[in-house]
Amino acid sequence: MEFRPTTPEDLRTILGWVGNDRDMVLWSGPTFTWPLTLDQLLTYAGNPQRTYWSAIDGDSHTLMGHASLLIDEDAGLMRIGFIIVDPGLRGRGAGRSLVDGVVRRGFETSTIPVMTLGVIARNRPAIQLYESLGFTSTGTASHIPYRDEEWEVITMTRPAAGPERVPAD
Ligand SMILES: CC(C)(COP(=O)(O)OP(=O)(O)OC[C@H]1O[C@@H](n2cnc3c(N)ncnc32)[C@H](O)[C@@H]1OP(=O)(O)O)[C@@H](O)C(=O)NCCC(=O)NCCS
Repeated sequence: MEFRPTTPEDLRTILGWVGNDRDMVLWSGPTFTWPLTLDQLLTYAGNPQRTYWSAIDGDSHTLMGHASLLIDEDAGLMRIGFIIVDPGLRGRGAGRSLVDGVVRRGFETSTIPVMTLGVIARNRPAIQLYESLGFTSTGTASHIPYRDEEWEVITMTRPAAGPERVPAD
């Protein structure tokens, strides 16, 4: 897996990975409105405080996944988010390599000692992935609306020195 900045063409591909409003909210919380559009993704991709990472297959050069990092040095905040893997590649280690790579890049480019993320409590695959990479729940939770439900959002954090683990490339 290789990493490079996310392009508008990548965003077009990611748009095709998000098939319905439930998947959209599980992925991105309350950020976007359904139907998701390329315009919304382009707006998301224009925040100068974020760095946008695309994970690329080293052989085929196709997009495998995406995540971004919000780094606010003044507030001492580094937050990873919008983590997504091509639906056809899930369950084979791409997510772990993606998150591991972006976490490393975050700690390499910032002196902020802790990385934060938010995850919807019912997103077990994502929570298990983050726990396996050293993230733990802070115990603080908020809620976001999904249709006529309220979904719990868990905050997780990880210090710079996480568990030593070889990513499954
Ligand atoms: C969450 C996501 C990024 C994981 O990517 P992935 O490539 O499937 O993950 P991996 O194959 O690297 O799996 C890593 C770990 O995640 C967990 N995991 C992955 N799929 C799982 C599933 N279906 N059920 C339970 N745990 C799962 C496991 O702990 C797994 O480790 P293991 O293989 O040693 O058991 C992917 O499912 C995805 O893109 N989901 C949609 C978007 C989303 O929900 N993003 C998270 C927003 S917070």
